[in-house]
Amino acid sequence: MPDLTVNGVRLAVEDVGEGPAILFVHGFPADASLWQHQIAGLNGYRRVAPDLRGMGHSDAPASGYSMASYAADLRVLLDKLVVDRAVLCGLSMGGYVVFECRRLWPERISGVVLMDTRAEPDSEEAQRSRDTLIAETRASGAAAVVAALLPKLLGATTVERQPEVVAQVRRMILGTPVAGIVGALEAMKVRPDSRPLLPDLAALPVLVVCGDEDTVTPPDTARAMAAAIPGAALEIIPEAGHFAPLERPDLVTTVLHRFLDAAKM
Ligand code: MLT
Repeated sequence: MPDLTVNGVRLAVEDVGEGPAILFVHGFPADASLWQHQIAGLNGYRRVAPDLRGMGHSDAPASGYSMASYAADLRVLLDKLVVDRAVLCGLSMGGYVVFECRRLWPERISGVVLMDTRAEPDSEEAQRSRDTLIAETRASGAAAVVAALLPKLLGATTVERQPEVVAQVRRMILGTPVAGIVGALEAMKVRPDSRPLLPDLAALPVLVVCGDEDTVTPPDTARAMAAAIPGAALEIIPEAGHFAPLERPDLVTTVLHRFLDAAKM
């Protein structure tokens, strides 16, 4: 991966193919390899997939994590890659970042894919869980995140039939620096309510995607979000959990291809 420094932080970035650009924004606790199959298979499009600050192979500064800083990094990244406009495809926390991009630099966004994500902010209970996980991570490192989240991230079918995917996600979490984990948890905890943005997304081609075994952001959440965006398409991915792009890679790539082709990006 080439390295690019944005806002003083070196980001590791995959930049593959030619054509209209799609910017992939991974979830937590993950990195761009969450999209490895779509990066490999989405021919006809320029696939840009960074590791967000604090995750994967990108720098992990001690501070400076917020939805606004992630979104600012992505805008500068597009500038550096000379990408004028892109479809933004965000999974879970990546979706929260996409909402922030829409707030901060809407003119650069040509379409939106919201995958295994939600528009609501954290409940008080969710915020307390973040605080607990922050304390556990500070005490025992990324292993605390494996213990708390790995059982939830993948669908039951994947856990039963694809041990290599379970092992990959475990490695991905363990490879995430503590500063990046804590920074992301703090950032997600105070993220704004993005529901007011949904009706105006109708100005763009929008696709909502959700694994039918996703228990973190379940299909009903995806259906409600899609219903709040006039004209949005909805795809439920069978036998996939919260990390659908790794669990049903070919189907997710097909669904994205169909959406991008239909939107004539
Ligand atoms: C993610 O996959 O990005 C996280 O599950 C999102 C969250 O914890 O809210």
